[in-house]
Amino acid sequence: MSSLVVIGAQWGDEGKGKLVDYLTTNADVVVRFQGGNNAGHTLVVDGVTTKLHLVPSGILHEGTRCFIAAGVVLNPDVFAQELDGLEKAGINITPERIIIDRDTHLITPYHVALDEARERSRGADKIGTTGRGIGPAYEDRANRTGIRMAELLNMEELEQKILKNVEEKNRYLTGALGATEEVSADEVISFLKRAADRLIPHIGNVSLLIEQARKLEKRIIFEGAQGTLLDQMHGTLPYVTSSHTLSGAVFTGCGIGPRSLDSVLGVAKAYCTRVGEGPFPTELHDDTGEQLRTKGGEIGTTTGRPRRCGWFDAVAMKRAVRLNGFDSLAITKLDVLSGLEQIKVCINYRLDGSKVEDVPSLSSELAKVEPEYITFDGWEDDLTGIRKWHHLPAEARFYLATLAEIVACPISLVSVGPERSSTIFSSTASFVSNFMG
Ligand code: IMP
Repeated sequence: MSSLVVIGAQWGDEGKGKLVDYLTTNADVVVRFQGGNNAGHTLVVDGVTTKLHLVPSGILHEGTRCFIAAGVVLNPDVFAQELDGLEKAGINITPERIIIDRDTHLITPYHVALDEARERSRGADKIGTTGRGIGPAYEDRANRTGIRMAELLNMEELEQKILKNVEEKNRYLTGALGATEEVSADEVISFLKRAADRLIPHIGNVSLLIEQARKLEKRIIFEGAQGTLLDQMHGTLPYVTSSHTLSGAVFTGCGIGPRSLDSVLGVAKAYCTRVGEGPFPTELHDDTGEQLRTKGGEIGTTTGRPRRCGWFDAVAMKRAVRLNGFDSLAITKLDVLSGLEQIKVCINYRLDGSKVEDVPSLSSELAKVEPEYITFDGWEDDLTGIRKWHHLPAEARFYLATLAEIVACPISLVSVGPERSSTIFSSTASFVSNFMG
């Protein structure tokens, strides 16, 4: 048992980066397989904070290799800046250590311009994207005009492709989307030349490397980005991202078969948050919501937007357990609930008076559901120093045990603070504890 995928079980920002960093203590390879720099992962080790958007969250562990697989969309400037920051902090960023798949698609300035212009043109119907060009880059992958890492190796051919792409994008930008400025082909070409100069040494074949690592029985963590409810097909459309965020995405995203994965870990906050637009049945518009936002530091790592906060939604979580096949859950930010007199969990949705079986497909219906809650007693204790399951207050253990029962998935890990060390194992964490040795 040597490979594990870590998946966001809610709307992203569940604390996957922290968990991946923690689990990497025992991993040889960490792989990002979808999303791009719309993600923001915060790692805190011995009081030092590292924020990452693209580099896998295993990077702080010397000796761990970090791969960006084909399913990611990569902005080379952002990636280079991230490498510079890591190098300044004394982290090894050599091409042996950090490899980008030859088939990974690139985000260029025209993707960013399209993302921004489309959001503007949507007006009140905007999705609230991160504005990083993620959607347009995935669109180009699907319409077969995208730019892949390997194309940086032949700049002459790439320049011709860019001229055509930019012409088409400018027509769309200034015509359909009403943008006032065109994108300059020269700027895009210099952007890609800069990318070639910096990133060509990092190009590799991640699919092959993963196969080789598996043959050598290396321990591999596949690091998901965003969350289940933001999945392009199974999320709360249209308020979703443009990649598949589910565990199944690991196979196509990396170019590996389904038997390459041994376990699926879902990461969920002890409550719920969402950034950007879209329905959120358990959202709190009161002081409790504000308390969660303040105490939980619920501000987006990527965009700095305040996150919307609400109660844990077990209806959505049951869906996440099914869509991903979670073997266990890691519950994060349990410490943020300390001090609340009562804690609620949504166990059913009612739509027009009737109980609904699953999260409705239409956002207009999801926006109308009425959540039914069960209420738990809160606890006062500060949990941040606790490292053992049985040291948690009885109310907190009851809360966790009940969540696990409702969503029919064991809880293997609990996080009680941003520090790597603020992590607690449960006794039911068989795979995860095996992985950790
Ligand atoms: P995009 O991925 O930038 O296209 O944004 C689409 C939606 O996904 C927006 O609601 C974003 O706020 C949300 N989103 C994208 N990435 C993340 C993330 O890493 N965490 C939380 N929300 C995200």
